Amino acid sequence: MVDSKYVLEVKDLHTSFFTDAGEVKAVNGITFNLEPGKTLGIVGESGSGKSVTAYSIMQILAQTGRITSGEVLYKGEDITKYSEREMQKFRGSKCSIIFQDPMTSLNPVFTVGYQLEEAIRLHTNKSKSEARERAIELLKLVGVNDPEKRLKQYPHEHSGGMRQRDMIAMALACEPDILIADEPTTALDVTIQAQILELMQDLQKKLGMAIIMVTHDLGVIASMCDEILVMYGGRVCERGTADDIFYSPAHEYTKGLLRSIPRTDNMNEKLVPIGGTPINLLNMPEGCAFCPRCDEAMKICLKEVPDELRISDSHLASCWMNVKKLYESKEA
Ligand SMILES: Nc1ncnc2c1ncn2[C@@H]1O[C@H](COP(=O)(O)OP(=O)(O)OP(=O)(O)O)[C@@H](O)[C@H]1O
Ligand SMILES: [Mg+2]
Repeated sequence: MVDSKYVLEVKDLHTSFFTDAGEVKAVNGITFNLEPGKTLGIVGESGSGKSVTAYSIMQILAQTGRITSGEVLYKGEDITKYSEREMQKFRGSKCSIIFQDPMTSLNPVFTVGYQLEEAIRLHTNKSKSEARERAIELLKLVGVNDPEKRLKQYPHEHSGGMRQRDMIAMALACEPDILIADEPTTALDVTIQAQILELMQDLQKKLGMAIIMVTHDLGVIASMCDEILVMYGGRVCERGTADDIFYSPAHEYTKGLLRSIPRTDNMNEKLVPIGGTPINLLNMPEGCAFCPRCDEAMKICLKEVPDELRISDSHLASCWMNVKKLYESKEA
């Protein structure tokens, strides 16, 4: 294994779906690094390519989907070159994913205990009784009361919040280095949401794993992320700490997202949705993907994709407005 400071590096990742209607370019050059034990947030509107990014890392894309270029390095090793067998091992012991809707991942005809024990036995060489003990331990870890009884129940006998805890226990069964949580709380009400996020942070402290939090709700995850990527049209349009993104957004899309969510620091502000419709990925525009919806768009925005411009040590954004401001400040 190559020595790397990062547990995961994604380099200029492109993923497309080859459909009857043509090539859907869902991910168009995503780059990021993740250090062990850190949390990365990926935010963006529906269809911005968040899940496809996550599924590309795990290589669990739909049949028509394919990584067309780029690299995904796990501890310095390019896993896009892995065989399916090696990928199974990666998915089983290095990286886990929690899906948005637990009912799609829990099988309704088997008890929670059976499914959890199977997951444990698949990834370790534990015996049946050892797997049962570990399952109890895991349910306790994720805060399920009376785990012995709960294991004997079917998924529909558990509440929404409890099923999400079951899923987290399942994802932790292999003690992953990386946990990808794809909208883990959107199906839950606000108080349960907060409990689940707190639980994930707690587990991260205990187990030291890195987390990728995928969400369309910037407000929900901001406080737990070391870095946030804002995605639009399968690209990163802005990245930075939660403070960078919330207090000095440098991309018109991020500003639009912020105007559309309630904020406790300004309760009187009116919420404004972003106008226009999301882009057609079958026919990506030549320039900035957000240009057709941007009030500040200039001629160049139509023609060329802006490079990432560094705004501070932690903060980068891809918007021609920043380049313009830079020139103006140099001229002044
Ligand atoms: N199997 C598929 N075939 C064709 N296009 C697909 C397929 N899966 C995803 N896409 C397209 O890729 C784009 C990105 O989808 P993705 O699921 O990553 O969005 P998302 O950011 O996760 O949105 P959401 O917040 O709704 O989950 C969408 O336009 C979607 O239509
Ligand atoms: Mg998604």
